[in-house]
Amino acid sequence: MQIAIDGPASSGKSTVAKIVATKLGFIYVDTGAMYRVATVLTQKLGLDYSDEQGILAALKQADIQFKPDQAGQKVFLDNEDITLMIRTPEITNNVSQVSALAGVRTEMVARQRKIAAQGQVVMDGRDIGTTVLPTAEVKIFMVASAQERAKRRYAENTAKGIMTPLATLQAEIELRDQKDSTRVVSPLKKADDAIEIDTTQLTINEVVEAILVIVKQNM
Ligand code: C5P
Repeated sequence: MQIAIDGPASSGKSTVAKIVATKLGFIYVDTGAMYRVATVLTQKLGLDYSDEQGILAALKQADIQFKPDQAGQKVFLDNEDITLMIRTPEITNNVSQVSALAGVRTEMVARQRKIAAQGQVVMDGRDIGTTVLPTAEVKIFMVASAQERAKRRYAENTAKGIMTPLATLQAEIELRDQKDSTRVVSPLKKADDAIEIDTTQLTINEVVEAILVIVKQNM
C-alpha cells in the first residue's frame, strides 16, 4: 500500500505522516527534506540557486543519507549531519527555487520511486499524489489557513530559539505556497482523487485518526 500526503507549507504533513507510518509499520519518506538537501548542497558549493546543470552534477556525486532516529530522522550530506541546517530560514526561503528546476525534480522523483519500490510507504510532499505515486491507494491533501500555519511555525521556531516575527513567517509561507503552486513542473495541486483534510481546527491526533480511518477503508 502507498499513502501520499500532499499540501502547502507547514500544514502539518510531516508530523502526521511520521506518526501514521510508525503506527502502520510503513517506510516514511519526507520528500521536502530531499529538496532541502539539494538546497544546502547548492549553498555549500556557492552555486546559484538557478544553476540547474551545476546542481544536478553536484547531486549525482553527493552521498545523501536519511537515517531514522527517535526524533524522526537524521539527514547526512557526505557524512556531515545537516539535520538542523535543512530547516534554517536561508534554506527554507530558497528551496522553492531549487525545487522548481525540471532536472532536479526528475532526479528526485526517480529517487523517491526507488524508495517506494522497497515496501509500503507513507510519502509526504507537494506532487506525490499527482506525479510521484499517481496510483497510491490513499491520497490526502492537507490544508490549513496561512494564519494557523504561521502560528504553528512560530511555536516551532521559538522552541528552537529562532525569533522571526509572526507576520514575517506568514508572508514567507504565503510566498512559498505561491511559488510552489505556480511553477511549471509538478506544481502543488490536489490530485483529483485525493481527500482534502482541513487541519486548521484539528489536533495532530485527530488528523492521524482521520487518515487511519481512510487507510482502513482502502485496505
Ligand atoms: O515539505 P517542506 O516544506 O519541507 O518542503 C520544502 C520545499 O520543497 C517546498 O516548499 C517545495 O518547494 C519543495 N517540495 C517539492 N516537492 C515535494 C516536496 C517538497 O517541490 N514533493
